[in-house]
Amino acid sequence: MNLKLRKLSHAMGAEVCDVDVAQPMSEAFFGDIYQAFLEHGILLFRNQDITREQHIDFSRRFGELDRHDALPRDRHPDYPEILLVTNEPKADGSPSDSRYTGRQWHSDMSFTPVPSLGSLLRGITIPEVGGDTVFANMYLAYESLSEGMKKLIADLHGIQLAGTRKIANEQSGVPRAQEQKKINPPIAQPVVRVHPDTGRKALYLGDKVKRFDGMTADESKPIIDYLNRHATRLEFIYRHQWRANDIIAWDNRCTMHLALGDFDETQRRHMERTTVLGTPSGYAVAHE
Ligand code: SIN
Repeated sequence: MNLKLRKLSHAMGAEVCDVDVAQPMSEAFFGDIYQAFLEHGILLFRNQDITREQHIDFSRRFGELDRHDALPRDRHPDYPEILLVTNEPKADGSPSDSRYTGRQWHSDMSFTPVPSLGSLLRGITIPEVGGDTVFANMYLAYESLSEGMKKLIADLHGIQLAGTRKIANEQSGVPRAQEQKKINPPIAQPVVRVHPDTGRKALYLGDKVKRFDGMTADESKPIIDYLNRHATRLEFIYRHQWRANDIIAWDNRCTMHLALGDFDETQRRHMERTTVLGTPSGYAVAHE
Protein backbone atom coordinates (compact mmCIF):
# COMPACT_ATOMS: atom_id res chain seq x y z
CA MET A 1 0.00 0.00 0.00
CA ASN A 2 1.38 3.41 -0.96
CA LEU A 3 1.27 6.23 1.54
CA LYS A 4 -0.97 9.14 0.65
CA LEU A 5 1.07 12.27 1.40
CA ARG A 6 0.19 15.95 1.16
CA LYS A 7 3.03 18.47 1.37
CA LEU A 8 2.72 21.01 4.19
CA SER A 9 5.07 23.68 2.89
CA HIS A 10 7.78 24.12 0.29
CA ALA A 11 10.44 23.91 2.99
CA MET A 12 9.34 20.79 4.78
CA GLY A 13 6.66 18.53 6.15
CA ALA A 14 3.97 16.23 4.83
CA GLU A 15 0.59 15.15 6.09
CA VAL A 16 0.12 11.39 6.08
CA CYS A 17 -3.51 10.97 5.05
CA ASP A 18 -5.91 8.19 6.03
CA VAL A 19 -3.67 6.41 8.54
CA ASP A 20 -4.80 5.43 12.03
CA VAL A 21 -1.59 5.13 14.02
CA ALA A 22 -3.32 2.95 16.63
CA GLN A 23 -3.98 0.17 14.09
CA PRO A 24 -1.51 -2.69 13.61
CA MET A 25 1.03 -1.83 10.92
CA SER A 26 3.30 -4.15 8.95
CA GLU A 27 7.06 -3.59 8.97
CA ALA A 28 6.84 -2.65 5.29
CA PHE A 29 4.12 -0.09 5.90
CA PHE A 30 5.99 1.47 8.82
CA GLY A 31 9.10 1.42 6.60
CA ASP A 32 7.24 3.69 4.15
CA ILE A 33 6.29 6.03 7.00
CA TYR A 34 9.91 6.16 8.17
CA GLN A 35 11.11 6.91 4.63
CA ALA A 36 8.60 9.78 4.43
CA PHE A 37 9.84 10.98 7.84
CA LEU A 38 13.42 11.08 6.51
CA GLU A 39 12.36 12.81 3.32
CA HIS A 40 10.06 15.48 4.78
CA GLY A 41 11.54 16.08 8.26
CA ILE A 42 8.12 16.29 9.88
CA LEU A 43 4.97 14.21 9.43
CA LEU A 44 1.46 15.23 10.43
CA PHE A 45 -1.20 12.66 11.33
CA ARG A 46 -4.67 14.17 11.81
CA ASN A 47 -7.62 12.83 13.83
CA GLN A 48 -5.65 10.50 16.12
CA ASP A 49 -8.01 10.09 19.05
CA ILE A 50 -5.77 7.58 20.81
CA THR A 51 -4.80 6.50 24.31
CA ARG A 52 -1.45 7.21 25.94
CA GLU A 53 -0.53 3.54 25.50
CA GLN A 54 -1.24 3.79 21.77
CA HIS A 55 0.80 6.99 21.51
CA ILE A 56 3.71 5.21 23.22
CA ASP A 57 3.35 2.05 21.10
CA PHE A 58 3.36 3.97 17.81
CA SER A 59 6.33 6.07 18.96
CA ARG A 60 8.29 2.89 19.76
CA ARG A 61 8.20 2.02 16.06
CA PHE A 62 10.70 4.87 15.59
CA GLY A 63 13.09 3.59 18.28
CA GLU A 64 13.67 3.29 22.01
CA LEU A 65 11.90 5.96 24.03
CA ASP A 66 13.40 8.44 26.46
CA ARG A 67 12.05 8.21 30.02
CA HIS A 68 12.81 11.90 30.47
CA ASP A 69 15.24 11.66 33.39
CA ALA A 70 16.67 14.97 32.13
CA LEU A 71 13.28 16.68 32.59
CA PRO A 72 11.81 15.03 35.69
CA ARG A 73 9.34 17.83 36.49
CA ASP A 74 7.64 17.53 33.13
CA ARG A 75 7.12 13.83 32.70
CA HIS A 76 3.74 12.27 33.24
CA PRO A 77 3.61 10.76 36.76
CA ASP A 78 2.31 7.40 35.48
CA TYR A 79 3.89 7.32 32.01
CA PRO A 80 7.57 8.34 32.12
CA GLU A 81 7.72 8.05 28.31
CA ILE A 82 5.26 10.95 28.07
CA LEU A 83 6.42 14.52 28.53
CA LEU A 84 3.71 17.03 29.38
CA VAL A 85 3.66 20.42 27.69
CA THR A 86 0.72 22.03 29.40
CA ASN A 87 -0.55 25.16 31.06
CA GLU A 88 -3.10 23.18 33.08
CA PRO A 89 -2.38 23.92 36.77
CA LYS A 90 -1.17 21.07 38.97
CA ALA A 91 -3.56 19.18 41.26
CA ASP A 92 -2.68 21.58 44.15
CA GLY A 93 -3.57 24.58 41.96
CA SER A 94 0.00 25.77 41.45
CA PRO A 95 1.15 26.64 37.88
CA SER A 96 2.34 23.86 35.64
CA ASP A 97 6.13 23.48 35.33
CA SER A 98 5.88 22.92 31.59
CA ARG A 99 3.77 25.90 30.59
CA TYR A 100 6.72 27.60 28.88
CA THR A 101 8.28 24.49 27.35
CA GLY A 102 9.77 25.01 23.93
CA ARG A 103 9.50 28.82 23.78
CA GLN A 104 12.91 29.11 22.15
CA TRP A 105 14.47 27.58 19.04
CA HIS A 106 15.78 24.16 19.92
CA SER A 107 16.18 20.54 18.94
CA ASP A 108 14.96 18.18 21.65
CA MET A 109 17.46 16.98 24.25
CA SER A 110 20.39 18.78 22.57
CA PHE A 111 21.61 19.59 26.10
CA THR A 112 22.14 15.90 26.93
CA PRO A 113 24.75 13.37 25.78
CA VAL A 114 22.04 11.47 23.84
CA PRO A 115 20.11 14.02 21.77
CA SER A 116 16.81 12.82 20.43
CA LEU A 117 16.25 11.13 17.09
CA GLY A 118 12.72 12.46 16.89
CA SER A 119 9.66 13.45 18.89
CA LEU A 120 5.93 12.77 18.51
CA LEU A 121 3.76 15.56 19.91
CA ARG A 122 0.01 15.09 20.25
CA GLY A 123 -2.27 18.11 20.51
CA ILE A 124 -4.98 17.33 23.06
CA THR A 125 -6.44 20.68 24.15
CA ILE A 126 -5.78 23.54 21.74
CA PRO A 127 -6.56 27.23 22.32
CA GLU A 128 -9.22 28.84 20.15
CA VAL A 129 -6.52 30.56 18.12
CA GLY A 130 -2.73 30.33 18.24
CA GLY A 131 -0.44 28.09 20.27
CA ASP A 132 1.26 27.22 16.97
CA THR A 133 4.55 25.36 16.63
CA VAL A 134 7.12 26.56 14.09
CA PHE A 135 9.66 24.22 12.52
CA ALA A 136 12.88 25.06 10.63
CA ASN A 137 14.59 22.84 8.07
CA MET A 138 18.23 22.65 9.17
CA TYR A 139 19.40 20.87 6.00
CA LEU A 140 18.30 23.89 3.95
CA ALA A 141 19.85 26.19 6.53
CA TYR A 142 23.21 24.45 6.13
CA GLU A 143 23.10 23.91 2.39
CA SER A 144 22.31 27.56 1.66
CA LEU A 145 25.35 28.90 3.55
CA SER A 146 28.33 30.21 1.57
CA GLU A 147 31.33 27.92 1.16
CA GLY A 148 33.29 30.36 3.35
CA MET A 149 30.82 30.07 6.22
CA LYS A 150 30.66 26.27 5.82
CA LYS A 151 34.47 26.17 6.21
CA LEU A 152 34.39 28.51 9.20
CA ILE A 153 31.90 26.39 11.16
CA ALA A 154 32.98 22.93 9.98
CA ASP A 155 34.74 21.93 13.20
CA LEU A 156 32.96 24.15 15.71
CA HIS A 157 31.06 22.79 18.69
CA GLY A 158 28.27 24.81 20.29
CA ILE A 159 27.88 24.52 24.05
CA GLN A 160 24.26 23.53 24.63
CA LEU A 161 22.86 24.65 27.97
CA ALA A 162 19.86 23.39 29.93
CA GLY A 163 17.67 25.75 31.92
CA THR A 164 17.84 28.61 29.44
CA ARG A 165 14.13 29.46 29.16
CA LYS A 166 13.93 33.22 29.23
CA ILE A 167 10.29 33.54 30.24
CA ALA A 168 10.44 30.97 33.00
CA ASN A 169 13.60 32.52 34.41
CA GLU A 170 12.09 35.97 34.62
CA GLN A 171 8.67 35.10 35.91
CA SER A 172 8.83 31.95 37.93
CA GLY A 173 11.29 29.32 36.90
CA VAL A 174 14.49 30.16 38.79
CA PRO A 175 14.55 26.99 40.98
CA ARG A 176 13.68 24.93 37.92
CA ALA A 177 16.48 26.50 35.87
CA GLN A 178 19.00 25.87 38.67
CA GLU A 179 17.84 22.27 39.01
CA GLN A 180 18.10 21.80 35.24
CA LYS A 181 21.68 23.06 35.21
CA LYS A 182 22.59 20.53 37.94
CA ILE A 183 20.95 17.56 36.23
CA ASN A 184 22.25 18.47 32.78
CA PRO A 185 25.76 19.93 32.82
CA PRO A 186 26.86 21.82 29.66
CA ILE A 187 27.59 19.71 26.63
CA ALA A 188 29.34 20.65 23.40
CA GLN A 189 27.60 19.44 20.23
CA PRO A 190 28.85 19.74 16.64
CA VAL A 191 27.47 22.80 14.85
CA VAL A 192 27.32 20.77 11.64
CA ARG A 193 26.15 17.21 11.95
CA VAL A 194 25.76 14.44 9.46
CA HIS A 195 22.37 12.77 9.56
CA PRO A 196 23.03 9.09 10.29
CA ASP A 197 20.26 7.85 7.96
CA THR A 198 20.45 10.26 5.03
CA GLY A 199 24.14 11.26 5.12
CA ARG A 200 23.11 14.92 4.58
CA LYS A 201 24.67 17.71 6.62
CA ALA A 202 22.45 19.85 8.84
CA LEU A 203 23.07 22.89 11.01
CA TYR A 204 22.73 22.17 14.74
CA LEU A 205 22.37 25.31 16.84
CA GLY A 206 19.39 27.15 18.40
CA ASP A 207 18.88 29.42 21.39
CA LYS A 208 20.45 27.09 23.97
CA VAL A 209 23.91 27.80 22.52
CA LYS A 210 25.60 30.90 23.92
CA ARG A 211 29.14 30.24 22.75
CA PHE A 212 31.37 27.85 20.82
CA ASP A 213 33.82 25.62 22.66
CA GLY A 214 37.25 27.30 22.60
CA MET A 215 35.81 30.78 21.97
CA THR A 216 34.39 33.47 24.24
CA ALA A 217 30.71 34.40 24.27
CA ASP A 218 31.56 37.80 22.76
CA GLU A 219 33.45 36.17 19.90
CA SER A 220 30.77 33.54 19.32
CA LYS A 221 27.66 35.69 19.57
CA PRO A 222 27.75 37.42 16.17
CA ILE A 223 28.19 34.07 14.40
CA ILE A 224 25.53 32.30 16.50
CA ASP A 225 23.08 35.16 15.98
CA TYR A 226 23.72 35.16 12.24
CA LEU A 227 23.31 31.39 11.91
CA ASN A 228 20.11 31.29 13.98
CA ARG A 229 18.67 34.20 12.00
CA HIS A 230 19.63 32.51 8.74
CA ALA A 231 18.21 29.11 9.81
CA THR A 232 14.84 30.63 10.71
CA ARG A 233 14.32 32.58 7.47
CA LEU A 234 10.68 32.28 6.47
CA GLU A 235 11.47 30.17 3.42
CA PHE A 236 12.97 27.43 5.62
CA ILE A 237 9.92 27.28 7.89
CA TYR A 238 6.68 25.39 8.40
CA ARG A 239 4.24 26.86 10.94
CA HIS A 240 1.69 24.42 12.29
CA GLN A 241 -1.76 25.49 13.48
CA TRP A 242 -2.88 22.69 15.75
CA ARG A 243 -6.19 20.88 15.79
CA ALA A 244 -7.12 18.53 18.62
CA ASN A 245 -5.81 15.00 17.97
CA ASP A 246 -3.08 16.06 15.57
CA ILE A 247 0.18 14.19 16.01
CA ILE A 248 3.35 15.62 14.57
CA ALA A 249 6.44 13.44 14.35
CA TRP A 250 9.59 15.48 13.74
CA ASP A 251 13.19 14.51 13.07
CA ASN A 252 15.34 16.29 15.66
CA ARG A 253 18.49 15.54 13.63
CA CYS A 254 17.60 17.89 10.79
CA THR A 255 14.97 20.28 12.19
CA MET A 256 14.56 22.66 15.11
CA HIS A 257 11.32 24.07 16.47
CA LEU A 258 9.74 26.74 18.63
CA ALA A 259 6.46 26.75 20.58
CA LEU A 260 4.85 30.14 20.03
CA GLY A 261 3.19 31.86 22.97
CA ASP A 262 0.71 33.42 20.53
CA PHE A 263 -2.43 32.60 22.47
CA ASP A 264 -4.65 33.75 25.29
CA GLU A 265 -2.96 32.26 28.37
CA THR A 266 -6.30 32.00 30.17
CA GLN A 267 -7.19 29.29 27.64
CA ARG A 268 -5.86 25.75 27.97
CA ARG A 269 -3.11 24.29 25.81
CA HIS A 270 -2.32 20.67 26.64
CA MET A 271 0.13 18.65 24.57
CA GLU A 272 1.81 15.30 25.23
CA ARG A 273 5.13 14.29 23.71
CA THR A 274 7.14 11.13 23.37
CA THR A 275 10.85 11.47 22.66
CA VAL A 276 12.77 8.87 20.68
CA LEU A 277 16.37 8.35 21.79
CA GLY A 278 19.08 9.12 19.28
CA THR A 279 22.73 8.15 19.31
CA PRO A 280 25.30 9.53 21.77
CA SER A 281 26.85 12.76 20.60
CA GLY A 282 28.97 15.62 21.88
CA TYR A 283 31.27 15.89 24.89
CA ALA A 284 31.00 17.35 28.36
CA VAL A 285 32.64 20.72 29.02
CA ALA A 286 34.02 21.46 32.46
CA HIS A 287 32.18 24.69 33.22
CA GLU A 288 30.25 27.50 31.61
C1 SIN B 1 8.36 21.04 22.41
O1 SIN B 1 9.26 21.86 22.27
O2 SIN B 1 8.60 19.84 22.46
C2 SIN B 1 6.93 21.51 22.51
C3 SIN B 1 6.48 22.22 21.31
C4 SIN B 1 5.10 22.78 21.47
O3 SIN B 1 4.48 22.67 22.54
O4 SIN B 1 4.59 23.35 20.50
